Amino acid sequence: MLVRFRGIKFHVSNKFDNYTQRIIINFQISGQKLYLWRKNAIDNAIAAKVSVKEVDWLLQHISDLDSLSLRLESFKNRPKIFLQKSIEQITILWQKRLKEHLPVQYIVGRVSWRNFELDVSPSVLIPRPETELIIDIVQQTSCYSKSSHWVDLGTGSGAIALGLASLLPDATIHAVDYSEAALAIAKTNAIKTKLINQIQFYQGNWWTPLSHLKGKVQGMVSNPPYIPSSQLPQLQPEVFEHEPHLALDGGTDGLDAIRYLVKASPEYLISGGLWLIEAMAGQAAAVVAMLSQHKDYENIKIICDLGGIERFILAFRR
Ligand SMILES: C[S@@+](CC[C@H](N)C(=O)[O-])C[C@H]1O[C@@H](n2cnc3c(N)ncnc32)[C@H](O)[C@@H]1O
Repeated sequence: MLVRFRGIKFHVSNKFDNYTQRIIINFQISGQKLYLWRKNAIDNAIAAKVSVKEVDWLLQHISDLDSLSLRLESFKNRPKIFLQKSIEQITILWQKRLKEHLPVQYIVGRVSWRNFELDVSPSVLIPRPETELIIDIVQQTSCYSKSSHWVDLGTGSGAIALGLASLLPDATIHAVDYSEAALAIAKTNAIKTKLINQIQFYQGNWWTPLSHLKGKVQGMVSNPPYIPSSQLPQLQPEVFEHEPHLALDGGTDGLDAIRYLVKASPEYLISGGLWLIEAMAGQAAAVVAMLSQHKDYENIKIICDLGGIERFILAFRR
């Protein structure tokens, strides 16, 4: 169907946004033109040492093409391909990716994480694939009672809180972040994934807004900032220049937030309650040492991610 919007003609597909139920207004382009655009974008990516996969990732998110038709280039002869933005707008965004190192996830405002499609913006860390495992670790401990309180400290996009809510449908999840802007994104994601009724959001400093939960929490899960401050400028420009430093900077040795979480959590956890965090490669032994020095923890374990890196530290409240 052809519609007029601000004096411009648009083709409207019968696609609806799953969450907002709004019609997506599409631009269109011939398969041949998009094929040439993609070819050029791939050449630019190679020259800029950016993964060529990002071209298809971008196109997948802003067109009606799937990854297979992009890879096989089977779209080339289609007379019309629908786009959410004009090809001129897409070109500007792709240039921002290459020249300003803007992560492609921020360009499209979306990322896939576990079974969720999450909104992201530069106010939140882009949830990483390795963090997905934290939910599987909770599942494997099978230490939870049904209607329990769980906490995600430093929720960012809300990824971990959503994973917990979907794993533990009878539990209440309490998600905390210092950043109001991050909380706004996390709440949007909770609404879109229809998990909002299970999650309560709080703005504040780690455990501070949860004083009403002292001695009641079944599990604390956190992916805190853990990069040593001096190492931040050495991160990829995509991370250093665009992701929020509040989400990255762990202080002089990277362990400021973790040290606090070791010290403060026993007051909130029930006996047998789970303490689980993500840390940086090389930090696990220091975290185990901190937990071991504390009389309130037992069954302390290091768990590797799929790349074999010691990534997660698990302990239980005595
Ligand atoms: C590494 S990010 C993790 C985000 C998300 N949980 C994930 O795994 O993708 C750390 C998060 O901790 C939040 N944060 C930093 N300092 C905080 C504090 N003092 N109190 C609460 N949250 C804090 C940041 O805003 C950020 O969202």
